[in-house]
Amino acid sequence: MAKKNKFLAEFRVNRKNTNSVKWDNLKEQYGDDQLLPLWVADMDFKSPKAVTDALVARVQHGVFGYSTIPDSYYDAFFEWQQTRYGIEMHKEWMRFGTGVVNSLYQLVDLMTEPGDNVLVQTPVYYPFYSAIEDNQRRVIRTPLKHENNQYEMDFEALERDIKENHVKLLIQCSPHNPVGRVWTESELTQLLELCRENHVMVISDEIHQDLIVGNKPFISALSIDDGRYRDNMVVVNAPSKTFNLAALQNSHIIIPNSQLRAKYDKLVKHLNKPEGSLMGRVAGEAAYRSGAIWLDEILSIVRTNYLEVSHQLVSKFPEIKISELEGTYLMWIDLSAYVRADRMKEFMQKECGLAVDYGQWFSEETPGFIRMNLATDLGTVQIAVDQLLKGLKGAKLNHLN
Ligand SMILES: Cc1ncc(COP(=O)(O)O)c(C=O)c1O
Repeated sequence: MAKKNKFLAEFRVNRKNTNSVKWDNLKEQYGDDQLLPLWVADMDFKSPKAVTDALVARVQHGVFGYSTIPDSYYDAFFEWQQTRYGIEMHKEWMRFGTGVVNSLYQLVDLMTEPGDNVLVQTPVYYPFYSAIEDNQRRVIRTPLKHENNQYEMDFEALERDIKENHVKLLIQCSPHNPVGRVWTESELTQLLELCRENHVMVISDEIHQDLIVGNKPFISALSIDDGRYRDNMVVVNAPSKTFNLAALQNSHIIIPNSQLRAKYDKLVKHLNKPEGSLMGRVAGEAAYRSGAIWLDEILSIVRTNYLEVSHQLVSKFPEIKISELEGTYLMWIDLSAYVRADRMKEFMQKECGLAVDYGQWFSEETPGFIRMNLATDLGTVQIAVDQLLKGLKGAKLNHLN
């Protein structure tokens, strides 16, 4: 406990009036700047001290001219991937971007033609839909199986949807936002084999790879069956979600297939230097080198928050269904037993005073869900729980259910 308090004293900061999207964009997003924000996926914690030290040192150098990506960056990133997950990486596979969503847009353009069908397993992180639709491709939605409060891939439906729609590309979220699954080796193998057999390319979005909260280990699509499927895929990841660096704009596009890489290089040539930022790389390198202990503390805070919220909600309202949080710091909560879907927004904002991501944003099938960001201190989470419980008691009286 003392260790946790020391960590909180050092790293928890008040983010209000710091141009934070999460804290300062509430009016624009929700029409109400008094809500307690538990939405967009960043943390209310400062990055590891090694990161701020490295940034300060770079700033003190004082020159910000054109810069290269040093070998030391690759070394730090590769060592992180190798020692934590056994992933084999190669320098020539790597390209850099300003953010994963930005890269998804470029990759959909690269790997498909206008009008092609691109499959996602729903509910899923909503920019996946925009990256497909804004590129004039069609989204094929295959719902994850949701039985006994467990999410699983529905392989029968996947095979049917892929075949019937001549799907060209599948965008995979691993670990999965918002349902919190960390996919097993056997699930990933079955998925990648299905894609290979049906000539479906894969983008594996592994931005949440380090945010492992439960007992299942993270496995990259790159390592399945000793890299057997590598030629068929692009993996995107970044230090940004892990170490809270989103605004520093540094992400990775990993393309093992040399022909696809050449096509990618040709495509991005005419885009305005989409290769990320100097400060993002300074921060990322320091984080991969020295951020592991900080990350352990964050994961421990998220675990505690998750157990507390689950316990308090379910003990008072037993029909609330909470998905197991294997990965990510985003809690997926089914309130449909108590709150009518068409009243969800009114309930969360007017009755509870909370800004959360609505289930509707992730899929039309999940309007009774909310997604709650747990990357904050327990005190803030407790206020959110108290407000939610108060709202739920009122919902009974006000017939919001
Ligand atoms: C699955 C997934 N991909 C990408 C992103 C955003 O990545 P970026 O900020 O690098 O665009 C998020 C953020 O929540 C995410 O959950």
